[in-house]
Amino acid sequence: MKFLFSVVAACCVLFSFCLNENDSFIPGKPWKDTDGIHINAHGGGIVFMDGVYYWYGEHKTAGRGGNTAQEGVRCYSSKDLYNWKNEGIVLKVEKNPDSEITKGCIIERPKVIFNKKTRKYVMWFHLELKNQGYEAARAAVAISNTPKGPFKYIKSIRPNKGVWPINFDAKFKLAPANEEELKSWTPEWMTAVKNGMLVRRDFDMGQMSRDMTVYVDDDDKAYLIYSSEDNLTLHIAELSDDYLSFTGKWTRMEPAGHNEAPAIFKKDGIYYMITSGCTGWDPNAARSFRSKSIWGPWKSLGNPCIGKGASLTFHSQSTFILQVQGEKDQFIFMADRWKPDKPIDGTYVWLPIKFNKEKPVLKWYDKWDLDVFRKK
Ligand code: GAL
Repeated sequence: MKFLFSVVAACCVLFSFCLNENDSFIPGKPWKDTDGIHINAHGGGIVFMDGVYYWYGEHKTAGRGGNTAQEGVRCYSSKDLYNWKNEGIVLKVEKNPDSEITKGCIIERPKVIFNKKTRKYVMWFHLELKNQGYEAARAAVAISNTPKGPFKYIKSIRPNKGVWPINFDAKFKLAPANEEELKSWTPEWMTAVKNGMLVRRDFDMGQMSRDMTVYVDDDDKAYLIYSSEDNLTLHIAELSDDYLSFTGKWTRMEPAGHNEAPAIFKKDGIYYMITSGCTGWDPNAARSFRSKSIWGPWKSLGNPCIGKGASLTFHSQSTFILQVQGEKDQFIFMADRWKPDKPIDGTYVWLPIKFNKEKPVLKWYDKWDLDVFRKK
């Protein structure tokens, strides 16, 4: 009997080996999809629907300009989080040179959420218009009836044009006389940024929106969280009921704190955010925050990473935090290890989030699987 059991077990292992199935996460290494091709979904986010996870990310290419959008947003599907099937490009760049998402624009960090009322899948992403570098700093939205697309591009915007954030001190609505003469990066200039100098600068045209994520709360309200004010301050803005525009309720987080790459989750009624500093494609030390309300105040908890590689987030930058469905308190930190010289080769660093009292903790694993959450 025991012998028979061993034979069956050996056959199963052999079978899954032949099928090339993954049974673990191997952070930072090439990750093959079910066709044996390295997954191409960078700066990604995940939505879960009817037993299936859908992973959306930037399709990157190999050559120069590989970080610009040559194809669009790619989607993969999976039931177990280890094995991903390529579902193709679900938001396509357009040939029309007048389109905001014409081939060669920049599409970054696409995130999809499902709207229960409209039954639509809504994709938000960071859009930069073609040949304008990172100047446009716009939040863009697309919509689909199914998770596998096709997503229809709707519009891009600079959020919260003509609206002050909540809790914004009335005395900061008017610029002090000498403000424009301040030299960048001096302590006085930093204080002016904290006091809303750049909010005032962009008040009439709308606030900048670069690195971003979206978050749907337990009450189905959704928020766009984005690096604004020249990447110096994060903004959190409430989305309308259909998730396609803004309600005008928004706040600033960590003014002049220089945070990018926001990723958020909620555990036991507390919101946690993990971000990075601003060093372009190069990694830096992650930061973490907690708050009882999405509107803050956010308390800084420092670098969530521990051990070797902690000071560079294990050579990666946050993009999303995924809650494992059907399990309590199983959160996966998703990050990108960028390869600016050959963007298509960028890899993914997924790590389990553990807790030390009120602090999220990330430590490196060469290889891990979901059983890690069951071990103390
Ligand atoms: C990073 C950002 C990426 C991309 C890159 C461009 O800091 O997180 O999404 O915008 O800069 O240099």
